[in-house]
Amino acid sequence: MMSQTLGVLALLLLTYADCQEVRYETKTETTNYGPVTMVVDNLAEIAVSVSDDTTIQLEEKINRTRQNIVGNIEVLTANAMAELSDVIYETNQLVVSNPDCNPAWSLDELNENVTRQLGGCTEDLGSLLEDFRLESQLALVRVQEFVQQIAHLPAKCQMLGASPLNPLASAGGSVCFINAMAEINLGMAQSMHNASLILVQTHQTAEDQVEQAQLCSAMVVQQIGDYLREEQDQCRQS
Ligand SMILES: *[C@@H]1O[C@H](CO)[C@@H](O)[C@H](O)[C@H]1NC(C)=O
Ligand SMILES: *[C@@H]1O[C@H](CO)[C@@H](O)[C@H](O)[C@H]1NC(C)=O
Ligand SMILES: *[C@@H]1O[C@H](CO)[C@@H](O)[C@H](O)[C@H]1NC(C)=O
Repeated sequence: MMSQTLGVLALLLLTYADCQEVRYETKTETTNYGPVTMVVDNLAEIAVSVSDDTTIQLEEKINRTRQNIVGNIEVLTANAMAELSDVIYETNQLVVSNPDCNPAWSLDELNENVTRQLGGCTEDLGSLLEDFRLESQLALVRVQEFVQQIAHLPAKCQMLGASPLNPLASAGGSVCFINAMAEINLGMAQSMHNASLILVQTHQTAEDQVEQAQLCSAMVVQQIGDYLREEQDQCRQS
């Protein structure tokens, strides 16, 4: 994604340089700054549109990563609940049909206990999600700031080249554009790099934490299952 952006921006600079030559050839037929302004406007428009696409792709990746983590938390919790639901149901039926067994637990307490323990298993994933929400939002804003800078370039550089009385003025405007574009290009590349680092690191951390959460919830399922099967045995003996 990043190299694609860089490629296109580099191409824009080359295109711009070509247009400069054309402009000098046709100089006599035009005013000093008209065509330059048009070229700069068009190039800035193309650059903004390319960068917008890149930003949208970045936002899509951020959204997918976020949905991935949310999905993992939901699936983990739902799976553990599903694994326990049979033994919880059986035990509850047994207790209800045998008034003599006097269980040391209630269904509500047990559900609360399971929910709390599973919540503990996915706690790290939850805080990873929060951190990612903030960091990725900031990274995206950084990238968008560079797009804004490109959009403002024609106006900014036109001010420098706006004097029709000064034949060098329009050259000043285009130098301004080329220099500013190169700088924005660099900043944009860095901000995209920063954003992809956040994505990669979050993916890796999420993978590790999903593994931990799976082990943790398997232990909860085992522990609660064992406890309930013991309760069933005691109930049958009473
Ligand atoms: C990403 O998610 C946010 C919030 O859910 C949404 O507003 C935005 O449109 C999504 N962006 C893309 C590119 O899918
Ligand atoms: C409820 O959770 C605690 C840990 O938070 C555990 O020690 C306890 O055994 C659980 N209760 C049941 C009925 O399993
Ligand atoms: C990229 O990240 C580094 C380190 O966090 C930071 O110093 C730099 O300002 C960031 N660059 C951009 C363009 O966001």
